[in-house]
Amino acid sequence: MYSLDFSHAWIGRVARPDYAEGGLAETSAKLRRECKEGRLPALTMPYAGALERQLAELEPRLRAFRHMVVLGIGGSALGARALQKAFFPEQDRPEHKGPWLWIADNIDAPSLSAWMSSLNPAETVVVGISKSGGTIETLSQYFLMRDWLKKGLGARWHEHVILVTDEKKGYLREEAARENITALPVPDNLGGRYSVFSAVGMVPAMFMGIAWRDLMRGSYAVTSPLADITPEELAQHPSWKMAAWAYRLWVQGYSQLIFFSYIPAWASLGAWFSQLWAESLGKNGRGTMPLPAVGVTDQHSLQQMFLDGPKDKGCLLLTSPALSQGDAAGPYFPEGIPDKWSWLRGRRFGELLDAECLGTSAALVKNEVPLLRLVAENAGCEAAGSVMGMCMAATLMAGWLLDINPVDQPAVELGKRLACARLGASGYEAEEAMLASFMKTSA
Ligand code: PA5
Repeated sequence: MYSLDFSHAWIGRVARPDYAEGGLAETSAKLRRECKEGRLPALTMPYAGALERQLAELEPRLRAFRHMVVLGIGGSALGARALQKAFFPEQDRPEHKGPWLWIADNIDAPSLSAWMSSLNPAETVVVGISKSGGTIETLSQYFLMRDWLKKGLGARWHEHVILVTDEKKGYLREEAARENITALPVPDNLGGRYSVFSAVGMVPAMFMGIAWRDLMRGSYAVTSPLADITPEELAQHPSWKMAAWAYRLWVQGYSQLIFFSYIPAWASLGAWFSQLWAESLGKNGRGTMPLPAVGVTDQHSLQQMFLDGPKDKGCLLLTSPALSQGDAAGPYFPEGIPDKWSWLRGRRFGELLDAECLGTSAALVKNEVPLLRLVAENAGCEAAGSVMGMCMAATLMAGWLLDINPVDQPAVELGKRLACARLGASGYEAEEAMLASFMKTSA
């Protein structure tokens, strides 16, 4: 489904590692142990069978709606958006007649108001996605949309809601039981940014008619062998190789990792990867800052800095040869184009993408940017699943190599608590004091 090309990965200050060293034995033991204890469901997907049955049952009901509004944030939204942009481009095209997926992942009053004033509640299903069931950005949108549904639909409003949340606890789980709302579980130990192949990403994918089973299959094929892997086998596994490379980058003072997608439709994978990488690895003063970039667009935007700015960046470049071949390469340039560009005559549009990707790769290497090429066999769902699964596994292992916990995110909690204190929530006395002190300080 994909391969990693390390031909130009070990340049600049990054020395080629000996895969038999540097945490390989510890990592394979930890993988086996944690998978056995059910702590890494992103890799083992023990929930897959039940989820497939639930989705198959829900499909006719959900596909009858014209609009789905997803309420979620961070890992509860970015996977769905990446899949929407990659595999449901129809929605952004002029001839599109539905269905429509709207993802509400911000406190964006104009957009929320626009949805509530222009969508017909009778044709709309609202999907509230929150693992914790208590995220204020998501809940605040839910309270407003619940009200909107109640006003528009009366007693049957709850038939227009699906909740995806923790199996046992949290406000949304209680709400589901109280209001008789269909609810799908986010499995235990599956944090938001690792949850795209659970109901979190698969409910919206199924609504759009995306081949969600292929996505799950692609990921599982890459990650499931990790549950029972020997050090020798792990040494050959792409996720370990990527983690070890990324770790070496960090050790050598490269503080940024470019995620350069030369698969245009997969551009939003950059935002998904960035959240996965940043929220998992930015801890204890460690980690590399992910920098999402899109080829070729960002050749005319960020590339100058990549090439000739500080030598603090490595690059993971995503590409697929399939895009410059056959029909996927798009139309042929006509014979009638001006002589100055005669070299394009008879070539296909997609060949330009391939040539520019090659040009960028060579330019990065010439400028000593360590380059790891991730080559997808094609831009289909199974390939995307395998790439995303590999990235999740690599992130976990990179975290272990950095000696941090890649599945928590303690630092981001403070800002959320301060916001609650600001609006008068009870039990936030310490945060209120902190805010008071912050607001007193002047330059
Ligand atoms: O990746 C994560 O764990 C976070 O980004 C969460 O997805 C995000 O904070 C939303 O949390 P929740 O799903 O509990 O609403």
